[in-house]
Amino acid sequence: MCRPTAVRSPRSRASCKGGALHPIQAAFKEEHGLQCGFCTPGMMLVGSALLEDNPSPTDDEVRWAISGNICRCTGYMNIVKAIQAAGSAMAEQQAAESVPAAAS
Ligand code: FES
Repeated sequence: MCRPTAVRSPRSRASCKGGALHPIQAAFKEEHGLQCGFCTPGMMLVGSALLEDNPSPTDDEVRWAISGNICRCTGYMNIVKAIQAAGSAMAEQQAAESVPAAAS
């Protein structure tokens, strides 16, 4: 279940629909971006903040953004992939929402 306030800032336009996971939550699940989950809230918050300013960050940009968070489990590769996948998903969601509704 999505808890939007946990991953949204006032500038964030990504949202949860119908009880679905937020895009960054879904990406961490899909890309196996967590194991024990201890570091995950911080990784998601930092990743969300990065994606607000840079929707398609490079590996190095993600690694720099998350450098203040220590993960003892994953080796970071899947966390980086999850944040990048979330950026793509959020861009797709925003593009879909910006398409004007067809006149009826
Ligand atoms: S998933 Fe265990 S510390 Fe990051």
